[in-house]
Amino acid sequence: PMIRRDDYRPFGWLVPETKLDFELGLESTHVTATLTVARNAKADPAPVIRLNGDGLEPESVLVDGVPATNWTMDEGDLMLPLTGEAHEIRIATTIQPSTNSQLMGLYASNGMLCTQCEAEGFRRITFFPDRPDVLSTYTVRMSGPKAQFPVLLCNGNRIAVGEGGDSHWAEWHDPWPKPSYLFALVAGDLVARNDSFTTMSGRKVELNVYVREGDLDRTEHAMESLKRSMKWDEEVFGREYDLDLFNIVAVSDFNMGAMENKGLNVFNTKFVLADPETATDADYDGIEGVIGHEYFHNWSGNRITCRDWFQLSLKEGFTVLRDQLFSQDMGSAPVKRIEDVRILRMAQFPEDSGPLAHPIRPDSYREINNFYTATVYNKGAEVIRMMRTMAGEERFRAGTDLYFDRHDGEAATCEDFVEAIEDGAGLDLKQFRLWYSQAGTPKVSVSLEHEGNTATLRLGQVVPSTPGQLDKQPMPIPLKLALFDRASGKHGGEQLVVLDKAADTFTFDGFAEKPVLSINRTFSAPVTIERDVPREDLVFLAAKDDDPFARYEAMQELMTGHLVAAVSGSLGDNDRAAARADIARALGAVIADATLDDLMRGELLLMPGQTHIAEQMLVADPGRIHAEREALKAAVGAVLAEDLVAMHARASTLPFTMDAAGKGARKVKTIALTYLAGADPERASALAASQYDSADNMTDRQGALMVLAGLGTAERTARLIDFYNRYQGNALVIDKWFALQASSLHPQAIEHVKALADHPDFTLRNPNRVRSLYMAFAGNPSAFHAADGEGYRMVADLILALDPINPQTAARFVPSLGRWRRIEPGRAALMRSELERVAAAPHLSRDTFEQVTRSLD
Ligand code: ARG
Ligand code: ZN
Repeated sequence: PMIRRDDYRPFGWLVPETKLDFELGLESTHVTATLTVARNAKADPAPVIRLNGDGLEPESVLVDGVPATNWTMDEGDLMLPLTGEAHEIRIATTIQPSTNSQLMGLYASNGMLCTQCEAEGFRRITFFPDRPDVLSTYTVRMSGPKAQFPVLLCNGNRIAVGEGGDSHWAEWHDPWPKPSYLFALVAGDLVARNDSFTTMSGRKVELNVYVREGDLDRTEHAMESLKRSMKWDEEVFGREYDLDLFNIVAVSDFNMGAMENKGLNVFNTKFVLADPETATDADYDGIEGVIGHEYFHNWSGNRITCRDWFQLSLKEGFTVLRDQLFSQDMGSAPVKRIEDVRILRMAQFPEDSGPLAHPIRPDSYREINNFYTATVYNKGAEVIRMMRTMAGEERFRAGTDLYFDRHDGEAATCEDFVEAIEDGAGLDLKQFRLWYSQAGTPKVSVSLEHEGNTATLRLGQVVPSTPGQLDKQPMPIPLKLALFDRASGKHGGEQLVVLDKAADTFTFDGFAEKPVLSINRTFSAPVTIERDVPREDLVFLAAKDDDPFARYEAMQELMTGHLVAAVSGSLGDNDRAAARADIARALGAVIADATLDDLMRGELLLMPGQTHIAEQMLVADPGRIHAEREALKAAVGAVLAEDLVAMHARASTLPFTMDAAGKGARKVKTIALTYLAGADPERASALAASQYDSADNMTDRQGALMVLAGLGTAERTARLIDFYNRYQGNALVIDKWFALQASSLHPQAIEHVKALADHPDFTLRNPNRVRSLYMAFAGNPSAFHAADGEGYRMVADLILALDPINPQTAARFVPSLGRWRRIEPGRAALMRSELERVAAAPHLSRDTFEQVTRSLD
């Protein structure tokens, strides 16, 4: 059935208190839930209470201590008639954690027990009104074999412990009322890194990062990131932690990145464990960002939660913005901004222009798991960032202060958030609310004319139609811009214009000559800019713009513009050569620019990804995009060979450090190898092999191996074998080994993936391993888009094999096939027929069924 936002009704019952009793076992866990319920005066009278269940059978149902027999089952839910104003309901169930392969609810991972309840996993543990607007205070008792589960954790504070024989127990109480999706329980043989943090009002908080025995020495970065997050949220958002204990547990089988359960965050090991030998600089950044994200949820998500799942972006969009700003402050702000825009363009723009497009606040869904998307998360963050840009930091802070103050302890809506920002920051957001309801990435047309002393900027906007939304209204689009004087390379100050009509004109006086326009600086709005701009202007901006993002953007536009023209067949040989020469010159200037740090230099040297290039075209031919992109890389690599080798040599002399200089050096080293590999594979291979052999850190080693994996040289095989042997048994590093090969430029990558699927270390039961092989493959255009459709067949086979095991993860592979309308007709037909084959399979999960049917509609 389709669930609609407009159908929201408050729940008929309040559940002020919840008591849970767990008798823990891997094969079988017995759960007794005692709920205190009372009629909700703010809801329509409900003579029958609906307690959600998923795969549960009630063993006993008691109302006020008396066995009830008048209950019925409806689609897994328990329907219990209640006559009075308030009751106590007690229900016993038995669940099987070790056969729970969906990893939702209570499940077993490496001999430990853990939970994932967001969004609707709690109903797989016990019968309960499993919806985010039912807030309850939890008291939990758990007992189990001491040897197997020496550590027993839950939300809140541990209030009592005891033991008897081989068994022991712990009782936990969480004083903060919370929805069921924030419940968590962990039991296992774990060790902790322990530390503490004193909050701004003087509360001393005990901090623990729990991992398996051998992993303790890889938890320092996670702990430091946690302390930095706590401090930053106090300083920047005025938010203080509200319990005496904060626990993090790392789990190797996990569907997502991490989960913000109150006082007990559960993490994918990928976002906890790191040391220089086994984790890359990107892994370090990822850990800091996700630790921050989950911690920040304590206010944006837990203290103020969501009324219903249509409001998911209320907590996720806002929390992503908060983690982005945190990471900006911890490292290089411009580079972080560029990375976030790249992620948005790679993941969200294609979603917004495809069959799965939806507003950041969706109107309907069948399976909420399918809406944990780049749109809800990353576009959601951009939408709030625009409010911040329009208000300015200080007024925005007044808005968020008001939001936290006004809605603390509530289950709120996106509308509540917008109102608080309006009132607190003093913005009029009437029209701006369209960003919550309209899907699709706006296209903004830009042209600049010049006459006399006046520059005239003409802007237009079109919000493309998306499924179910054919007519769109113009939205307020805040654009930061600057007009550069060509001769001096300077501008007279950055300005903010807000385009809120279909078309508008802005004039700027005092320009004797036509200025160079820099627009959408810092990516102030999540839109596509469409403009005809002379190549020399892009070269100018790439070299001189004082906004690092705009500089990066000019470089990207320079390369993307050329590649799109080349792929569309509209370029003669001379034009192609001239464009390549200009690009090589601009990149050469970046290599030579002594004012740049290497982190930023690396950004400016990156070629646009194939997805980004394809996104510029109505229908794309992945084969031609790949060929033109590789040819440009080879041409640049040939022209700049000596500069690249010199840059590689210079960066290689720096010792390993974790500061910006060290990270930057490692980044430009591998980029140099990438270009060289296009021009001179033998030379690149030798250089990569020596980088690999002499590496004292994972960033250098993985970068070198990534380049080698794409080459057909003798150095390749030996290093791949070495890497496997060196890190055998370290799951997170072996994940990299799978991913490197699945995402490689090697012409036989598709055969490698097939072989790897039969490797003894491959399993469909571990989401990290599945993603490392198949997400990497689906994101590798030259392999996935093999002209005979073999790549599509492999992904469809994977979806069908994984769906019965882990539907949530299986459904995440559908979008790669769902792009068929935007691909050239031959491949489009093959993609479509694979989707049809999946759709026709019997017993599809709701997750996969929804994604496949939306993709075919
Ligand atoms: N709230 C978590 C986070 O963003 C993600 C949980 C997603 N769970 C799911 N079943 N889709 O931090
Ligand atoms: Zn989140």
